Amino acid sequence: VRDHGFHTVRVRRVVHETEAARSYVLGIPDELRAGFDYAAGQFVTVRAHVAGATKLRCYSMSSAPEVDDELVVTVKRVPGGAVSNWLVDHVTAGDELEVTYPAGSFRLTPTSGALVAFAAGSGITPIMSLLRSALSTTERPVQLFYANQDRASTIFSERLDRLQHDSAGRMVLERHEDVVAGFVDADEVRSFVGTPEPDAEYYVCGPTPFMDIVESALRGLGVEPEHVHVERFAAPPEPIEHASTSDGATSTVVIEIEGRTGTAEHRAGTTILQTARQLGLDPPYSCEAGNCATCMARLLEGTVTMLVNDALTDAEVDDGWVLTCQSVPTSPDVHVVYGYD
Ligand SMILES: Cc1cc2nc3c(=O)[nH]c(=O)nc-3n(C[C@H](O)[C@H](O)[C@H](O)COP(=O)(O)OP(=O)(O)OC[C@H]3O[C@@H](n4cnc5c(N)ncnc54)[C@H](O)[C@@H]3O)c2cc1C
Ligand code: FES
Repeated sequence: VRDHGFHTVRVRRVVHETEAARSYVLGIPDELRAGFDYAAGQFVTVRAHVAGATKLRCYSMSSAPEVDDELVVTVKRVPGGAVSNWLVDHVTAGDELEVTYPAGSFRLTPTSGALVAFAAGSGITPIMSLLRSALSTTERPVQLFYANQDRASTIFSERLDRLQHDSAGRMVLERHEDVVAGFVDADEVRSFVGTPEPDAEYYVCGPTPFMDIVESALRGLGVEPEHVHVERFAAPPEPIEHASTSDGATSTVVIEIEGRTGTAEHRAGTTILQTARQLGLDPPYSCEAGNCATCMARLLEGTVTMLVNDALTDAEVDDGWVLTCQSVPTSPDVHVVYGYD
């Protein structure tokens, strides 16, 4: 099983990107360097202690490993959000952060086709990493459609202009500002893409409504789903559809977390993570989309179906680990234990 534990690193510098966004340059101690090797597009999970509660949240690297010596994450405030506001308001140079080793499958694929990226707001973070990695290590053409409310809230605005300027014509940058053009719609996405190239790869990251529009426009243009890579920062709002236990019997779910145990009858439409929350167990989670592994737990008894697994390796699954945000019981009795630190 990979190391999913937390490691203490020191913030070297904080860069004021916009009124609501900061970049944190992390100093990685020599003895942890190998563990912190990462691919463009990946993220780390931060463990924050905010107002007496421990919270886990993922933040993508905005740095690119082939270009930058330092590892940088960029965080934008979410209104009312616990961790993003704590980071932006309280974390300064010299502070320590507890973070996992990098993870995530939102990565470049080995192809010479165009990289066509769609970013909105803080979604630019992993896209910035992918763009810079592709520009520095490949000959691929790069296209970025970047939506923001206005110019002042645009993260990396000047750096992107410079990147385009220095790309010798390889990079197309199209900006969208809501204050000028209203919200992004499918026509705009279609006209940006034009006729899709068969070997192009598409990367999408931003708020859920933006991602929905881009994904559906790409589908409408006939782009194959395997060429579309999405990174969801927040869980999609619609409830997860799934089958209940295979024989329709009621199942009992036993959940252990940090020495506390809760037992509940499984309710159709509910994942193990949701059951743990309903039991008041305060389980760890971040993406609720099956791509970060923050919610992983070990299955001690019974069977589950994982609706999505973009985070655990085959070896981890064989070892009994499950993503609780994606797991629904398929046997009458299910027993899971959280805690991999
Ligand atoms: C793989 C991954 C990578 C991520 N990378 C980054 C990154 O590079 N930079 C970054 O700033 N964030 C990133 N996020 C989002 C980040 O993990 C947190 O979800 C975000 O900072 C909000 O956390 P919070 O504790 O402040 O808000 P919470 O207290 O968790 O949430 C407050 C409310 O806001 C909603 N919400 C949560 N996240 C968002 C969002 N992104 N946009 C709008 N509403 C939201 C919640 O549903 C909730 O209703 C990433 C998430 C994932 C899963
Ligand atoms: S919370 Fe991210 S995979 Fe479950």
